[in-house]
Amino acid sequence: MQQAVRIAPSILAADFSRLGDEVRAVTAAGADLIHVDVMDGHFVPNLTIGPDMVKALRPHTTLPLDVHLMIAPVDPFIATFAEAGADIITAHVEAGPDIRRTLELVRSLGKKVGISLKPATPAAAIQPLIGLVDLVLVMTVNPGFGGQSFITSQLDKITEIRRMIDASGRMIDLEVDGGINAETARAAVSAGADMLVAGSATFKGGVGAYAANIGRLRAPPDDTRRAAARSS
Ligand code: DX5
Ligand code: ZN
Repeated sequence: MQQAVRIAPSILAADFSRLGDEVRAVTAAGADLIHVDVMDGHFVPNLTIGPDMVKALRPHTTLPLDVHLMIAPVDPFIATFAEAGADIITAHVEAGPDIRRTLELVRSLGKKVGISLKPATPAAAIQPLIGLVDLVLVMTVNPGFGGQSFITSQLDKITEIRRMIDASGRMIDLEVDGGINAETARAAVSAGADMLVAGSATFKGGVGAYAANIGRLRAPPDDTRRAAARSS
């Protein structure tokens, strides 16, 4: 079942020299989760942050920390991120060597279990894993950098995964990550997403703009608006 839209600012687009303040600011501005992008310069061509940063940010918000691991190998680091304070731990289906074991490891640590797919990976790759996860994260850019453009061809994949989730009868979040702005947010939600990661679109314009930026992303999809207009 598609749930109310939740917004997860990606701190990749925040001011790294004052990340604690930035996390507090988006928390006060109405964010629902804090999205933390972890990159290793191997699985993706960029390096970002590690478990010590998750630990340092933990006291700055009561919101869930949504940790997106773009690393391979991933298994040796899961327990460290769990101890550091991650609430959701998402690994990539492409990361190997045994995604099922990775997901079971996250589950065994009492954390929410997420699975992510790169744009080139078909929805079918996660079909056998749907019973093991609490969240599916569809990448709508090639992972590695913030500020890229939304890959529209992923909308069909979002819809396919929405059907897969609904058919499972399980409560699974469908999160979309990459190139989200007010317009692509509507398209992603219409396609079936209920959680949106937004880096650039959240942090643009400085602290005073965060609440309005987040509010714009939460706007209902076009067809909902049309239905509301018809009934009023
Ligand atoms: C990309 C990351 C995204 C990224 C989103 O590899 O997973 O979370 O920070 O940034 P925007 O919203 O700027 O596309
Ligand atoms: Zn991410």
